[in-house]
Amino acid sequence: MADHEVHEFDVIVIGAGGAGLRAAIEARAQGAKTAIVCKSLLGKAHTVMAEGGVAAALGTVYPEDNWKVHFRDTMRGGKMLNNWRLAQIHAQEAPERVLELEEWGALWDRTEDGRVLQRDFGGHRYARLAHVGDRTGLEMIRILQHKAVSMDIAVFMECTIVRLLKDGDRIAGAFGYWRESGKFVEFKAPAVVLATGGIGKAYKITSNSWEYTGDGHALGLWAGADLIDMEFVQFHPTGMVWPPSVMGILVTEGVRGDGGILRNESGERFMFRCIPEMFKAETADTEEEADRWFTDRKGARRPPDLLPRDEVARAIVAEIKEGRGTPHGGVYLDIASRRDPDYITRRLPGMYHQFKELADVDITKEPMEIGPTCHYVMGGLKVDAETAAATVPGLFAAGEVAGGMHGANRLGGNSLSDLLVFGRRAGLHGAGYARSIGARLEATSDQCEEIARDAVRPFDRSEGENPYGIQKELQDTMQTLVGIIRTEEELLKALDRLGELKERATHAVAEGNRLYNPGWHLALDLKSLLTVSEVTALAALERKESRGAQTRDDYPKMDPEFGKVNVVIRTKDGEPYVDQAPLEPLPQDLRELVEAT
Ligand code: FUM
Repeated sequence: MADHEVHEFDVIVIGAGGAGLRAAIEARAQGAKTAIVCKSLLGKAHTVMAEGGVAAALGTVYPEDNWKVHFRDTMRGGKMLNNWRLAQIHAQEAPERVLELEEWGALWDRTEDGRVLQRDFGGHRYARLAHVGDRTGLEMIRILQHKAVSMDIAVFMECTIVRLLKDGDRIAGAFGYWRESGKFVEFKAPAVVLATGGIGKAYKITSNSWEYTGDGHALGLWAGADLIDMEFVQFHPTGMVWPPSVMGILVTEGVRGDGGILRNESGERFMFRCIPEMFKAETADTEEEADRWFTDRKGARRPPDLLPRDEVARAIVAEIKEGRGTPHGGVYLDIASRRDPDYITRRLPGMYHQFKELADVDITKEPMEIGPTCHYVMGGLKVDAETAAATVPGLFAAGEVAGGMHGANRLGGNSLSDLLVFGRRAGLHGAGYARSIGARLEATSDQCEEIARDAVRPFDRSEGENPYGIQKELQDTMQTLVGIIRTEEELLKALDRLGELKERATHAVAEGNRLYNPGWHLALDLKSLLTVSEVTALAALERKESRGAQTRDDYPKMDPEFGKVNVVIRTKDGEPYVDQAPLEPLPQDLRELVEAT
């Protein structure tokens, strides 16, 4: 390998979305020499796709809200599979983190008398989402970015990390390449924070953009860390379905939070037929009661359109399957008949422009056509709740790449507060760990040599497969066989196909040279895409029950025994295998909170 560039830091943060930025800010504030390394541009992240708001029990609109109710909602939404301590810390610290952003310049929407306005979202008992119209994630990125660039944090953009480096059992840095020049670069650091987001690009219909190829999940696993809950992939109920070129783009849950309702082809509000037992007591079962809730909510039960995402996505899929879908294969989301145009364009300006420009639909006059889109993975690296440390010394994870916080299903808005709370903790403890290590660790140069050799293999092949073809087949496989509803037969078929694709990917060819070469980049991304796809299918096969985002047609009920375990993925001789590990039991006082109606 020709000489490669080397940089040394105390903490490197991989990923520049909300979690990465918040982690870097904290690590730097602790005095650690800190860098952010990102595959794309600083702040170009899936964080901006959390549009409708950040969930925190500020109690500004409903003073009766507090962390205990937020904790209860999060656990119930996660079908009790959440790591309770993560969920508790999250609910307790979210208000402080949200208000801190205000100190740093965030301009939340306000009530008429100047309090932070909070919006309704599915599964949250009270209006709890601080927001900026329907561009909340974008505002958060703007603030975090400003803060980070004022803090002497080094930023390396358009740099893809392909492997983590180790010194014995410990993390010693990361190795990657510049997307523009194709040259290799090594970052030596005792502490690495993974904040790489999700795996959405493993699916054909997704709200995720090109960066989300499961890099952090795969990097962590390859470095020896445990993954948990990978079977739980969230399909946001409302993505665009038409025209085909924009299929999957997110339609914020804020539309329903602000009064929008779901209807089928014949105009029926089908959600009233789909209220699960667990949520019966808190869900309105007539249109009159649901509509009253939007005007005078005290004591009233919430409309079924605002059930947690797993319930709504499943109901939409069932409706479409039964032939009651719209001409383009979705259902209708109607706010036009419920709110006046001024309200819609003021509260949901992004959605108004998105539909006008991309679909020629005026949402103040017509309903939208929507359907589920792959949006988020609840599964990720197993982390310690206090420190965000993964199971390999020196490795930390925050945001979507970390598992356990959301259990089997995430409530909308909880991703933004999660990334603030645990981004900060990852930065804090990453810096502390780096300090405690003192002397810098050394990755052997053999490791870098080997990674580089492997990375350029696609150029060595004179014939072989086009990586784009492999990626397309992978996305089709995941969409059709490891989608919203699964069976053992489908999952086994998926694993077979993924095995073949894995073999074919070893023959992927890159043409030309390493100077800005997207075909080569994809050939490398295929490694993480194939890894996260395989472990998702393996975990889904292992969990023989339906719970949250995992719906097994062949095991349609929740199984109390599976309610006590996480499905864990580890590697042996480089190959992933599946295991189970008991969940930490919920302490009695918290159990009482969760069971309170
Ligand atoms: O619907 C939304 O605005 C997305 C929010 C989230 O995923 O948390």
